[in-house]
Amino acid sequence: MKPVKVGVLGLGTVGGGTVNVLKRNAAEIARRAGREIVVTRASAKDLSKERICDTQGIILSTDPMDIINDPEIDIVLELIGGAGLVKEMVLKAIENGKYVVTANKSLIALHGNEIFAKASEKGVIVAFEAAVAGGIPIIKAIREGLSGNQIEWLAGIINGTGNFILTEMRDKGRDFDDVLAEAQALGYAEADPTFDVEGIDAGHKLTILASIAFGIPLQFDQVYTEGITQITRLDVEYAEQLGYRIKHLGIARKTSEGIELRVHPTLIPERRLIANVNGVMNAVLVKGDAVGATLYYGAGAGAEPTASAVVADVIDVVRALTSDPENRVPHLAFQADSLADIPILSSERFKTSYYLRLNAEDKPGVLADVTRILADHHISIEAIIQKEPVGDETAIPIILLTQITLEKEMNAAIAKIEALQTVTGKVNRIRLETLK
Ligand code: HSE
Repeated sequence: MKPVKVGVLGLGTVGGGTVNVLKRNAAEIARRAGREIVVTRASAKDLSKERICDTQGIILSTDPMDIINDPEIDIVLELIGGAGLVKEMVLKAIENGKYVVTANKSLIALHGNEIFAKASEKGVIVAFEAAVAGGIPIIKAIREGLSGNQIEWLAGIINGTGNFILTEMRDKGRDFDDVLAEAQALGYAEADPTFDVEGIDAGHKLTILASIAFGIPLQFDQVYTEGITQITRLDVEYAEQLGYRIKHLGIARKTSEGIELRVHPTLIPERRLIANVNGVMNAVLVKGDAVGATLYYGAGAGAEPTASAVVADVIDVVRALTSDPENRVPHLAFQADSLADIPILSSERFKTSYYLRLNAEDKPGVLADVTRILADHHISIEAIIQKEPVGDETAIPIILLTQITLEKEMNAAIAKIEALQTVTGKVNRIRLETLK
């Protein structure tokens, strides 16, 4: 059979890694796909730049449209990233009857509904395994491996840069900015690293996971996102003393009232496997009604781990080129005409436990005031510790763990605690999940 011709848009970290894996493993890939797969064209903004891949034998150009409009190209790999012009490129590639493989989470989270509709209309596939959790085949696991289950919830460390920063801060006491600069140099961080540290990148990935888990349209604008920039070394230490680790989690949970979609720092018991996922590694815990809890772990960013997922998609696409278009795995796991209109809950309706850290004057009645406010809002306390003042401070840190409560009640209680004369500054609140 004729080789399948691939055009690569973008020769950065992921594009370069993908070319390398496709070349190095060409023989095994052909045995798996049933056809030879060859990169014949690639585009990059600056052709004079040094590359991590060997581009010999590949026709290079600076204009991605040269590839998109080339009738010889069967599959377009969109590895540029970002959601602006790239959306038009992908739509044009689909219009031209190309199959598309992308690692672009923002593109799928923001424009996936439109892109998949267009792809279905044209009878082509848009594959996006590399968009979530780098090399971990989490899309395939949920969309195919767990398709007999009702997914109840999932929780994941789905931003490698954020996890790398939290790990280095905890283990080595390093500065936030210093670790972030290293993550950028290693090619883990987004072009705009605030996407990593403010939870936007994780929000894009959670949007995609929630859609394939629950059969709902992609709706990034409904995701609650909170970053890691407010986490201090003190919180990390106190959490450890209480037997918890702080991780930046993306959580999607189906309740009887709707779906919680949230990204925020979270205390989790240190004995959970996921609490011990460190550095740039990602992990996703998925709870299905039949299978129970399952955990997927691996490298969430980097050239070849991401390339691993891109190439697997290319092989899937090559296999599907000859299959019945009506009988393919649907883009969002559920048939396009069967997506459900389940409400996404506002953050006030989240139900979770909390870690609270506040600074208070060291005098009688202070704790009583705090606990009375919590009781007035039906919030039960799980644990409470009072620490020595830090440095020259006279105020004492008080740390509380609560049982599960409604976020609306917690917001109101925090406002009242912060208004107490004896409490100084803000209450630092971090959500806590036992992930049982
Ligand atoms: N910036 C992302 C991360 C890259 O750190 O996880 C992989 O999506």
